[in-house]
Amino acid sequence: MKILLVFSLFIAATLANKVGSPVPAGPKKHMVCYYDSSSFVKEGLGKLIIDDLEPALQFCDYLVYGWAGIERDSHKAVSLNQNLDLDLGKGLYRTVTRLKRKYPTLKVLLGLGGDKDIETSEDAKDLPNKYLELLENPAGRARFINTVYALVKTYGFDGLDVAWQFPKNKPKKVHSGIGSLWKGFKKVFSGDHIVDEKSEEHKEQFTALLRDVKNEFRPDSLLLSTTVLPNVNSSLFYDVPAIVNYLDFVNLGAFDFYTPERNPEVADLPAPLFDLPERNPQFNVHYQAQYWLRNNCPASKLNVGVPTYGRVWKLTDDSGETGVPPVAKVENEAPAGPNTQIKGLYSWPEVCALLPNTNNAYGKGANLALTKVGDPTRRTGNYAYRSDEKSSGHGLWVGYEDPDTAAEKAGYVRQFNLGGVALFDLSFDDFRGSCTGDKYPILRAIKYRLVN
Ligand SMILES: *[C@@H]1O[C@H](CO)[C@@H](O)[C@H](O)[C@H]1NC(C)=O
Repeated sequence: MKILLVFSLFIAATLANKVGSPVPAGPKKHMVCYYDSSSFVKEGLGKLIIDDLEPALQFCDYLVYGWAGIERDSHKAVSLNQNLDLDLGKGLYRTVTRLKRKYPTLKVLLGLGGDKDIETSEDAKDLPNKYLELLENPAGRARFINTVYALVKTYGFDGLDVAWQFPKNKPKKVHSGIGSLWKGFKKVFSGDHIVDEKSEEHKEQFTALLRDVKNEFRPDSLLLSTTVLPNVNSSLFYDVPAIVNYLDFVNLGAFDFYTPERNPEVADLPAPLFDLPERNPQFNVHYQAQYWLRNNCPASKLNVGVPTYGRVWKLTDDSGETGVPPVAKVENEAPAGPNTQIKGLYSWPEVCALLPNTNNAYGKGANLALTKVGDPTRRTGNYAYRSDEKSSGHGLWVGYEDPDTAAEKAGYVRQFNLGGVALFDLSFDDFRGSCTGDKYPILRAIKYRLVN
């Protein structure tokens, strides 16, 4: 009897292995979804209100509501849009945390920083980085901790995600042709540019900050996570073995390695999974994830960030006809996406509309469909382009994530048994279902690969 049971278990296991994926499922993978509420106040089809979030929430384990910031000099944690977030205004803080009634397993975190806490006044650009100033000031750190705790607690958040606005790596300026591009990269390797003279101190102070926030949160069992923003060098600012003790998880912003803003003269794949020949070997998901793992971050705490958008450059007459990246002689002048209205960024539905479809089958000029170049190697991500024929001014190059490449990244998470995926952000996924009729297709594709 016993032998029979063991035998049938063996058969079942063998069968399951045959039909199932080659990778064991392991512990449950997490899905972290960011919602940047600046999309709530947009006009037109880019506007994402709370009701529009609902089809996504069944797939998300964590919702990070962004973004809060810090007040210069007072070091207080504050809402960056009080009319939207707080009770005297639209009260969105309470609206999002109340979503937990309908989705009892959902955890809602307050997001802080996130490259969104930008002071726009004329004199602001000459002021020192207020995130570093806060770290350097023990009284400021205490003030921050009290005020961020009060925000989280008052509005019923389950915790805090800290996307600290550390200084970013400086992109290499390229002035002529691909040849000098390679030379430029060699310079990056030799580390001739200092991002922050006091990075060692700031690293220690940030560790102390996270420790103190966690201590403040512990009696209420509040969660604490961190998001490493794109192009922030983990080795400069994150004491990985120390901080992982205070963090429930880490979200790696492993994308935007190339953007039109940072690299206005060269278009390249913005978020490859693995390294590409002759590029900086650090500019890919695999390098970033392995760096954290090598430094003793538990795999189960590491979430891979996946963007829901593409990066777009304008091709010129001199950019050539092939579109093969890296493409030189481009410009950061592509028209803004019709719905998102952000320079250099197209949401997934905006990219989808430019790919060949029935609406643009006979399009000419600015309405000519882009040529899609997929990623059979499953290493690099997609791109699509339209050359600048006869200097028409309609040349475009976009490197982007789609449901398939996003699912590849979820597959990577399973392969290395990482914690999950962090999606940047819901408002750039196709939340209206305009591409194929499915709402949130990138989110769905990731979730499907994580659990199956
Ligand atoms: C990050 O900093 C380390 C030094 O701590 C350096 O070796 C590495 O090249 C830097 N990475 C980038 C992309 O600048």
